[in-house]
Amino acid sequence: MHQITPSILNADLANLAVEVARVPSSDMLHFDVMDNHFVPNLTLGLPVVQSLQAHTDLPLDIHLMIEDADIWAPQYADAGCFSVTFHVEASKAPIRLAREIRRLGSRASMALKPATPIEPHADMLEELDMVLLMTVEPGFGGQKFLDLVLPKIERTRKLIEGTGKQIWLQVDGGVSVDTIGRAAEAGADVFVAGTAVYGADNPDAMVNRLREMAVAACKH
Ligand code: DX5
Ligand code: ZN
Repeated sequence: MHQITPSILNADLANLAVEVARVPSSDMLHFDVMDNHFVPNLTLGLPVVQSLQAHTDLPLDIHLMIEDADIWAPQYADAGCFSVTFHVEASKAPIRLAREIRRLGSRASMALKPATPIEPHADMLEELDMVLLMTVEPGFGGQKFLDLVLPKIERTRKLIEGTGKQIWLQVDGGVSVDTIGRAAEAGADVFVAGTAVYGADNPDAMVNRLREMAVAACKH
C-alpha cells in the first residue's frame, strides 16, 4: 500500500485547522516538530498538535527533529498520535524509546539523516513500525530531493524484507511528481510531501496524483 502524508510545514501556519481540512484524501498528516537545536529551525510542539487533534480525523504522523527525543517522543504517543518518529542521531536509547512509544499505543518510527547509514541499526528494525529516510537535510521544506539516498532506500527495503515484518518505509524531503516514482521504485511506500501538495492549486488532487504515480512506478 502506498501512502501520502502531507507536511503542514509548507502550509499556512496561521491557519492550520483550515489547512489540514484541505487534504482529506491524505493517509496521514505529517507534523514537523523542530527545536532550533537538532535543526536550525523552530516550528511547533505538543500544544499545537493537541489542539489540531480536534480538527481532523486523519492519523497524525509526528516527525520529531529535536535533541531531547527520549523525553518528548513518549508524550506525543501518550497524546494519541498515530505514529511518532524520532531521529536515531538524537536518541540516547533508541530501543528503549521505540518500546516505550509502542507501549503507549503509537507506531514507533526512526528517522535517519541522508548521511546516516542504515546498516548499524539493522538489528533493531523489528522494534520499529516505520523507518523514515530523509531525502533532504532536515530543517526546511522546499529543498531538492537527494538522489544519493536512493541506494539506501533499496538497501533498507531489503533489510525490512529480511525481517518478515510489515515495516513501512517513509521518505521525506523533495518528494514531488518529478521524484516520487524513483523513490517508490527504490522501495519507499510512505511519502511525505510538503511543497508539492501545499504549493499545488488543488492540494487534495495532488495527494491523489502522487499516490497514483507511486503505485504506477511499482507496477513494472
Ligand atoms: C524537512 C521536513 C519535511 C519537509 C518536507 O526537514 O522534515 O517534512 O516539510 O517538505 P518538502 O516536501 O517541501 O521537501
Ligand atoms: Zn518531516
